[in-house]
Amino acid sequence: MMHETFFHSRFSKEISEHPPFWLMRQAGRYLPEYRKVRELFPDFLSFCYHSEAAAEVTLQPISRFDMDAAILFSDILVIPDFLGRNVSFVKNEGPQLEPITNEKDVESLTLDAVKERCQPVMKTLQLIQKELPKNKALIGFAGAPWTVACYMIEGKGSKQFEATRSMSYQRPELFSALIETLTQATIIYLKEQIKAGANCIKLFDSWAGLANVHQFEKWVIAPTKKIVSEIKKDHPNIPIIGFAKGAGVMTIHYAKQTKLDAIAIDATTPLDWAAQHLSPHHVMQGNLDNIVLASDKNETIKQTKKIMKAWKKQPYIFNLGHGILPHTPIDNVQALCDTLRGQ
Ligand code: CP3
Repeated sequence: MMHETFFHSRFSKEISEHPPFWLMRQAGRYLPEYRKVRELFPDFLSFCYHSEAAAEVTLQPISRFDMDAAILFSDILVIPDFLGRNVSFVKNEGPQLEPITNEKDVESLTLDAVKERCQPVMKTLQLIQKELPKNKALIGFAGAPWTVACYMIEGKGSKQFEATRSMSYQRPELFSALIETLTQATIIYLKEQIKAGANCIKLFDSWAGLANVHQFEKWVIAPTKKIVSEIKKDHPNIPIIGFAKGAGVMTIHYAKQTKLDAIAIDATTPLDWAAQHLSPHHVMQGNLDNIVLASDKNETIKQTKKIMKAWKKQPYIFNLGHGILPHTPIDNVQALCDTLRGQ
């Protein structure tokens, strides 16, 4: 049976005037209570693995804004860490990893250690479930293999991830082996999350928009399909949301072939296009521009009402098109929440 929260009701195709909502990166630097906990941990990954602190910041936005879902506080780059790569977060520079360049690097990845190494995150989920009101969903997540491979090969954030995309052409067997290992690690990790209390899963493929048509089929769709099918074998009633950011028209193939339950769309995707091509078979999620939220309260209210109107006849979960930015005024977030509840 599907969990009985307002959030989960969308997956039984229920609709209502006011949608359930949560916000990508809802636990983060725009909140003073987050910054206070964050200060205690110079090292970001140690923060992610401190179960009490991670559970606390997961719950902060729910206490303040009463969203319909909490999302586990963690990061997509824990998987490379579980696999034995060095991962660190350098202030103002973002993530740094030792880049994968050859067969030896891929062969050294320790799939066997994933289950044990991910246990601090499982403890976080258990702690969250103890505190989270029963009418709220708890979303677990992982980065999708393509996006995690981007960081593992490049070794850092990038605008184009050229080393990654080149490797997929120049060394397809090596690239394929990495994607396969990431797919298996993701399946292990997400199944553990569900056992520990996550009752919805989201796959973040933030760099899907960089994949060309051939790469998209092979490295975005195929691994996602495998992950969804493996999770559904054990947990058919746990909804899975996919976010292939920037995928444009390829989102149609992504939605159709992967059997995801919900499709999250970014701020560049037209609402009527999504309603026509995606929502007959999938719950929609998205797509308010995070820059609008950060910059203009009245425009935020206006555009939120537009989304509510455009999607009022279909099941959807309100969200942003990408994560909340650190300089977003709390007042704007409060105005957004009030608008969504019709207050
Ligand atoms: O949504 C949530 O509230 C849950 C927590 C969450 C974080 N990262 C916390 C975080 C989630 C779901 C992520 C996913 C994530 N991480 C993605 C996919 C979604 C997206 O935004 O596209 C990606 C690409 C990453 C990788 C990552 N993590 C980068 C590039 C950075 C550095 C950039 C930055 O904002 O500093 C991070 C760090 C990170 N992950 C922070 C948070 C709150 C900021 C670290 C801090 O507090 O100092």
